[in-house]
Amino acid sequence: MTVKAFVVRAPGGINRLQIDERPDPGAPGPGHIRVAIHATSLNYHDLLVANGTIPTADGRVLMSDGAGVVEAVGEGVTEFQPGDHVVSCFFPQWPDGLPRQEVGNFAGTPGDGIDGFAAPYVVRPATAFTHAPRDWGFAEAATITTTGLTAWRALVVDGGVKPGDTVLVLGTGGVSITALQLAKSMGAAVMVTSSSDAKLERARAHGADHVVNYREHPNWGEKARAWTDGRGVDHVVEVGGAGTLAQSVDAVRVGGRIALIGALAGREGNVPTAALMRKHARLQGLIVGNRRQQQDYVAALNHSGQRPVLDRTFAFGQLAEAFHYQQSGAHFGKVCVEWHPSAPLATGQRLG
Ligand SMILES: NC(=O)c1ccc[n+]([C@@H]2O[C@H](COP(=O)([O-])OP(=O)(O)OC[C@H]3O[C@@H](n4cnc5c(N)ncnc54)[C@H](OP(=O)(O)O)[C@@H]3O)[C@@H](O)[C@H]2O)c1
Repeated sequence: MTVKAFVVRAPGGINRLQIDERPDPGAPGPGHIRVAIHATSLNYHDLLVANGTIPTADGRVLMSDGAGVVEAVGEGVTEFQPGDHVVSCFFPQWPDGLPRQEVGNFAGTPGDGIDGFAAPYVVRPATAFTHAPRDWGFAEAATITTTGLTAWRALVVDGGVKPGDTVLVLGTGGVSITALQLAKSMGAAVMVTSSSDAKLERARAHGADHVVNYREHPNWGEKARAWTDGRGVDHVVEVGGAGTLAQSVDAVRVGGRIALIGALAGREGNVPTAALMRKHARLQGLIVGNRRQQQDYVAALNHSGQRPVLDRTFAFGQLAEAFHYQQSGAHFGKVCVEWHPSAPLATGQRLG
């Protein structure tokens, strides 16, 4: 028996994605579960692996995020049973506690250091998954692995956001819109920046209290201070990196916190060291989170009623098309891919 999997051929490139036949992973051994994967969501990291910016093994099965249904459990597995809806972990080797040496790289991350979830069936250690939020669709659940957990850790676990806080999120991609929703659900006020007025309108519809077009107002740090009566915001969810950090430092309050998550606006650049010191601000780099944090996040979602904002969902055979769409920057929130594992490819479906 074989199954179809979406892989990237070295040295990478979206035009070098292809569907390969792989052996069916079979029955789960002790401590493992077999999962029928129904959906994945696209992250910037997946795009960098797919387009070859992050080199990976030839034939690597793509995608860090996977959501699906447990088909069978191996000996000793008590946490899951067949029929459970589950979602994968970004760092399956990081169960709990502080970040360790092993999570300083992507060697254990699905879709990068190990095979990912662009495949209809996988067998993995049970600890590579958590339960999905109750009654969520597969594409919705797939957004938790990378985007959701990052926003949760940045704002809640490490940020300690509380009612009445002010939060600044940059742009309207997956992490930022999830952070907007999360901050609102925690009782915070949120400012959103975007290059598009139409997207800012959508952000308002999702609860943004203040919006600024960062193309029209390149000094949006000042706008953030004005919005907070000169004080500055308590938290910045910083996805731009080098190109936006100076404005984020300008935006943050004295004693505030900047969670450095992404590098959409550049990997290297000047850090405004003196301004950062004068602000007594904390700048923390972070990458996603651990399994325990994901379990806590899922528990919170089961109560909050918050659902992810899905911009567009593609079919299995359209993964390359989905990456092109993501790369265009047209999306607001998350881009996903969803399929039925027993028929990942509809007849005649093209490969993007
Ligand atoms: N550290 C982690 O654990 C972690 C986890 C997830 C993602 N990330 C990183 O976080 C970043 C965002 O990821 P994502 O998945 O949310 O990406 P995404 O969905 O592709 O978000 C892209 C959006 O970011 C906005 N953007 C681009 N350049 C910008 C700039 N110069 N200033 C402000 N906004 C800008 C744009 O919003 P508008 O169209 O509204 O302008 C764009 O649509 C990436 O660098 C990714 O690698 C890190």
